Parts: sequence; structure tokens; C-alpha cells
Amino acid sequence: MKRQIKNNVSWVGYIDWELETFHSDDYSIMNGSSQNAYLIEEEKNVLVDTIWTPHRFDFVENLKKEIDLKKIDYVIANHGECDHSGALTALMAEIPDTPIYCTAQCVKSLEGQYGKRGWNFHTVKTGNTLEIGNGKKLIFVEMKMLHWPDSMATYMTGDNILFSNDAFGQHYAVDELFNDKADQCLLYKEAIKYYTNILNPFSPLVAKKLDEIASLNLPIDIIAPSHGAIWRDRPMQIVETYAKWAAAYQENQITIAYDTMWEGTTQIAHAIAEEIRHQSPDTVVKVFNVAKADKNEVMTEVFKSKAIAVGSPTVSNSILSSVAGWIEFLKQLKFKNKKAAAFGCYGWSGESVKLLQEKLKDAGFEVVDENIRAFWKPTDEDIARIPELVKAIIA
Ligand code: FEO
Repeated sequence: MKRQIKNNVSWVGYIDWELETFHSDDYSIMNGSSQNAYLIEEEKNVLVDTIWTPHRFDFVENLKKEIDLKKIDYVIANHGECDHSGALTALMAEIPDTPIYCTAQCVKSLEGQYGKRGWNFHTVKTGNTLEIGNGKKLIFVEMKMLHWPDSMATYMTGDNILFSNDAFGQHYAVDELFNDKADQCLLYKEAIKYYTNILNPFSPLVAKKLDEIASLNLPIDIIAPSHGAIWRDRPMQIVETYAKWAAAYQENQITIAYDTMWEGTTQIAHAIAEEIRHQSPDTVVKVFNVAKADKNEVMTEVFKSKAIAVGSPTVSNSILSSVAGWIEFLKQLKFKNKKAAAFGCYGWSGESVKLLQEKLKDAGFEVVDENIRAFWKPTDEDIARIPELVKAIIA
């Protein structure tokens, strides 16, 4: 199961073809995933991260086939989240005194999850190093809030490998392990979905961290994240892409997201899409019923968009719960530099459009005044106001 990455560095992780969701149901997995752990066998033997809790015993048994566990000199825990630390309990039961190198926040995270087990923690900060023999060393780089307070990356000199943990990863099962072997469309799709749904809230920190990594002047031959493909072919391509994504990214796209009770709000959604095509044929238009579409996929389309239009009918003086939940997630992702408009039908009280505008403002969008608020079904007069709304969000 050990698979060579470069020289004395091997992948010892788990490719999870059956995984369907992550963070409970908060992240949809369409193309499998992996938890990547790495074994470095220089004069010192080092394990970088482990895998998720359900596979912990298999992980330890498989690792035993590759190395006498007592010969592991150091364990590096780049991140305490259980998809990377979940096998530590089974591993440390076998080698309880082996030093674990991690950030101080990671100690708190591990002890919070697994209890105080007397593990031999060595806390590190950015710039701290660990000699591993053969003229090589590990350099630690704190990655605070990318995406947890404890996150860290580890750089290996000599082979020039950055073990970046979650950063630069994807929930994507690539049996061949490397980016040049992966389906390039899926690789991009899963990388941008991962960025949108996991990292976008921390985009200002991503930009700073990329600058900090660049200032270290470390040559990078391989970026080995903890999920998905390992970047060995032009590894800096994903760093450059992250720099673009972190800078309030947008394409010439508008996404329309709505739910409907009796199709009136659907009619407005499709009329807005048609008008965008009419006014701006080069603009990509996406239309989703948020009660039916996958929320992580829709958010990825929002990430690419320069504007969104969000619709809900009025229900019990409010909006449909599907749209309310969707907007709560929208707010969490902290999108920047995007416009928004609201629309919806009503039968009597008619609060939905005003509520949508308030919620979209609260989610950080620049909300235009133009809106479509239709009594029961959109009339010709309602439809006639759509060009103004589209003009406002395209501008
Ligand atoms: Fe892949 Fe934050 O764990």
C-alpha cells in the first residue's frame, strides 16, 4: 500500500471511493475522496498525518506491513480534524512515547477530541525545523484558519515537498495519486468546489499566507495535500490559482437561485435568465432550484458569479425554509464583490422580497433596489420590469 511520491517519501493514505458526504451532510462528495498520509524514510522516519477514524485499525495494520512502528521517530500532525488525526489513537496505542509535532492549537484540538492521553507533544511555530538526516530537514509553517486555528503545513528540504494539509486539496479520488494523471476537468471542478465551500471564508488569510510562503523563497517541486491529487506537474499552478480565487474572484456569470410553491417564482427566475441572455449574450447564466440542487455545487457557481438573483414566494410572513437555509450557508461563505437582486410571488402579505434583500445585504452582497414582487403570478407588467433588474445587476 506504500506508494512512492519521490525518493524516500511515500503515500500511505486511504482512497475513499464510497464517501458521499463530508462534515455530516454539509459537503457533497461526487467523485470520491482521499485522506492522504505520508511516510518519510530518511535517517529518521517520519509519519505526516494519519487518516479518518473509521479506517484507523486498517491504517495501522497496513502501516505495520511497511515499517516497524517502533522505528517511526516522529509523527507530524498538520491538523487536528479527525479526517487526518482519526487514526492517531490506534497508532499511539502502539508507540505511546513517539513525539508528535504540531501547533499548540492542535494539542488543544487533539486533547479535546480524544482526551488527555499523555501523548508526547512537541509544539512548533512557523520557521521551527526538525532535522531528519541525509542533510534534509522539515520546516513548519503555521496555516492559522486555513481552515482551522491549528492548521499547519510542513516543508521538506532536499526533496522540496510542501505537505500542505487541507490547503490545495480536493475531495476527489485519484487512484493514480498525481495531478498529471487525474481527469483535468474533474480536478479543476473539485479544487474550486473545495476552495469555495471550505476556504473562501478565509480568503483574506489565504492571500496573506501565499505571500508569506512566497517570501520564504523555498523551492517547491511537489505540493502534497491531505485530500485528492498530489501536485507534481507544475505544482505552482494551484498556488497561482488560489491567488486568483482569494482576490474576490468572479467570472462573467450570473447565478439565479430560487424555490417556488406553485411555479410563479420559477417563471420569474426563467424570465430573468432569458433577459440576461438578451442583454448580455456572453454572460454565463445558471438557474437552480435550491430545494433540488446540490448546495455545494450551487455555491461553487455563486463563487464564479459577478451577481446573483435570489427568489422565494412569501410563506407565513417569511420565505421558504429551503431558501432561508441556503442563504444562511451563503452568508457563512463570505463572498465579496458580488451584486444581488431579489424576486418572488405572494398572495397576501408579501414580505419575501424585502426579507430576501435584507438577508442578502447581511450576507455581504451589494443588493440592487430593482426587484420583482408579483401578486400570485407574474403579470406582463411584472415581466416588463425585469430588464431594469437585469440592467442593474449586469452594470
Ligand atoms: Fe481535511 Fe480540516 O480536514
